[in-house]
Amino acid sequence: MTDLKRIAVVPGDGIGPEVIDAGLAMLKAATEKRGRAFEWVHKDWGAEKWLREGVGIPEGGLKDLEENYDAVYFGALGDPRIPDMAHGREILLGMRFGLDLFVNMRPVELVAAEFCPLKNKGPDEVNFIVFRENTEDLYVSVGGNFKKNTPDEVAVDESVHTRKGVERIIRYAFEFAKSQGRRKVTLGDKSNAVRFGGSLWQRTFKAVAAEYPNIDTDHFFVDVLAMELVRRPEHFDVIVTGNLFGDILSDLGAGLVGGLGLAASGNLHPGKIALFEPVHGSAPDIAGEDKANPIAAALTGAMMMTYLGENDIAQAIQESVQEVIAAREVTSDLGGALGTKAAGEALTQRVLGKL
Ligand code: NAD
Ligand code: IPM
Ligand code: MN
Repeated sequence: MTDLKRIAVVPGDGIGPEVIDAGLAMLKAATEKRGRAFEWVHKDWGAEKWLREGVGIPEGGLKDLEENYDAVYFGALGDPRIPDMAHGREILLGMRFGLDLFVNMRPVELVAAEFCPLKNKGPDEVNFIVFRENTEDLYVSVGGNFKKNTPDEVAVDESVHTRKGVERIIRYAFEFAKSQGRRKVTLGDKSNAVRFGGSLWQRTFKAVAAEYPNIDTDHFFVDVLAMELVRRPEHFDVIVTGNLFGDILSDLGAGLVGGLGLAASGNLHPGKIALFEPVHGSAPDIAGEDKANPIAAALTGAMMMTYLGENDIAQAIQESVQEVIAAREVTSDLGGALGTKAAGEALTQRVLGKL
């Protein structure tokens, strides 16, 4: 019996299709060389479909993902013609919330010291992982307008935190630390100002931490945490935080390792389908120019391969990323001269050489 894996491929908007094409070519070549049975099913969910049909995820789309797929490989959404990102809320947040993917895992690993904007910091100093809660907080779209479009307009966005939601992401971070031999879990919150949710995070963190006596813990208010990530990134190992803070800190993390062209992420819920996407957006400023760095999408693919049990492929991708960077077979954001396609092909050749 073949162990067929089905992956939904959602390239999305802007540079999404460019980096996903490159990443997918690499993943197809690698899985074929390994003799693995993968089916890659494209979904045209994104701005074009939204503008044409008013549809984000077609009726039954989430159920289909849950029942018939092992993972989603996603590019990015974002189109200047949809300034409020309505389609992004429906498609991306629709998948995160609708599939209850409560873990947003965003590793920050410096591959080459030259890409770190901090002086005297290398791969040993910049190596942490952000676990961002992915289903609550200010992202829930609970709120509304009052007296809209008048001088007295009121806008309210509620920040929702539940015991269940906070506890499961904190526990996931501790379980990850325990299983990966990590030494410390740091909580980032704003409990000095955001009273009720902050207190819930504080109390829940302490309660869960007590179950993991062998793992160190510490806490920073998120403003100081941002400063300390820049000042002494080596202090951090595993960071757990809320949805909005995690969004911001993970882009800061990308800045420490060479930019968004290198940052990968996974949206997870153990036992369910998972969604893998680069941290970056659709980058309209470079879209369609063959300039986007495909490495974030490639590392995202590696994360997906690990999740699917294809550790040898994941490792080949990670090693190949290091090699193409060392050989300068990279795009202009990393000081190279290659376009997206050529950089992707260089990566694929190296991956194939290892399998
Ligand atoms: P962005 O991540 O798209 O781009 C920020 C900067 O990083 C730009 O200068 C861009 O050129 C550069 N960049 C990003 N990815 C790159 C890559 N792979 N290679 C080289 N350079 C890269 O963020 P933004 O400009 O704030 O947002 C653009 C659109 O993307 C918005 O509509 C936003 O809402 C959306 N967005 C979507 C996602 C997602 O779908 N997951 C994530 C972030 C932003
Ligand atoms: C990300 C993005 C999204 C987020 C946007 C596009 C809704 O910035 O994946 O980091 O805020 O989660
Ligand atoms: Mn973001």
